[in-house]
Amino acid sequence: MTNATIPNLTAFDEAALDKAFAALEAQARDDAAGVDTEGFRLKWLGRKQGLLNEVSDRWLKAAPPQARKAVGQRFKVLKELVESLLEGGSGAGPSDAELKAEAIDITLPGTRRLTGAEHPITRTMSEIVSVFAALGYSVGVGPEVETDYYNFESMNFPPNHPARDTQDTLVVAGQERRPLRDRLLLRTHTSPVQMRTMEQQPPPVRIVIPGKVHRNDAADATHSPIFHQVEGLCVDTSITFSDLKGTLDHAMKALFGSAVKTRFYPSFFPFTEPSADVQISCIFCGGKGCRKCKQSGWIELLGCGMVDPAVFAFAALKQPAYDPKKISGFAFGMGVERIAMMKYGISEIGSLFAGDMRFLNQFA
Ligand code: DAH
Repeated sequence: MTNATIPNLTAFDEAALDKAFAALEAQARDDAAGVDTEGFRLKWLGRKQGLLNEVSDRWLKAAPPQARKAVGQRFKVLKELVESLLEGGSGAGPSDAELKAEAIDITLPGTRRLTGAEHPITRTMSEIVSVFAALGYSVGVGPEVETDYYNFESMNFPPNHPARDTQDTLVVAGQERRPLRDRLLLRTHTSPVQMRTMEQQPPPVRIVIPGKVHRNDAADATHSPIFHQVEGLCVDTSITFSDLKGTLDHAMKALFGSAVKTRFYPSFFPFTEPSADVQISCIFCGGKGCRKCKQSGWIELLGCGMVDPAVFAFAALKQPAYDPKKISGFAFGMGVERIAMMKYGISEIGSLFAGDMRFLNQFA
């Protein structure tokens, strides 16, 4: 860049000085916008040929004594402008628009972060689990995509057995070329984790298994194709049906209040023998009979039974200690949604899955 030079001043009156300095200020702003920083610094602040030096020599030092102060003041302003331009400023401080963009209105409310809360399903599931944890049960989990072997065969549902039809299974596509027992499906119950647990450890076993299950069910007020269960398994020497009754009676009282009564109704499951459905006295009418219990005074809540020796025989393939002649056990399985709906007075299962904050906030 060739250095322009500064013309000598011919007049030192205020108007002439204003005009001369205004021209230089405009020039400085143009330069700052147009040239690189180093070029700008050299042109204006260079030790020998910088324009400010020239202004100092030609205008300030040459000024008649009575004009010194006026020139000096303007020189100071010009110098500050140049320095501020060099630092990347606009030379005039931030513009109104810039100030507005940066402005913070400290009277506005802060950004509110919603605190999460436990979902009623999760909460119910942990509540059930803690009732059994207090009895010395540990907690297990298993895969949601399961093989036919664990979901059915090892739970004593033989191939083509009609009890399979009660489970409305969703199967993984493209498995037809595999042997039946290896075919993948979405587990229809948490019972397969009974077998997975026994294969991993010899008796005694006391375990509860909370988890998600899937069935090809049409959704209605009380059915959802995805729901949750808590499974239980207790295996030891001399476990009897009385132990099963005592354990589940205690659990129902812990979950629904000590006034609740239980009764065991004959039922069928392939993996238990004998099997029972557990009913509790209606928590809405106390057993007198109402619409909720269809005037019966009882509400059916879960399935259970003594572990079928055929199930132990499958477990014994990996853990010989599951010898049905030496050990016995009971199992149970309950639907979490049903229990949550009863506890919290929810009438539509779908509201548990809709993600509507107005519903969920009631549990926060
Ligand atoms: N698996 C059964 C179902 O989903 C529930 C069940 C019944 C589990 C009896 C058990 C049991 O462990 O003993 O319908």
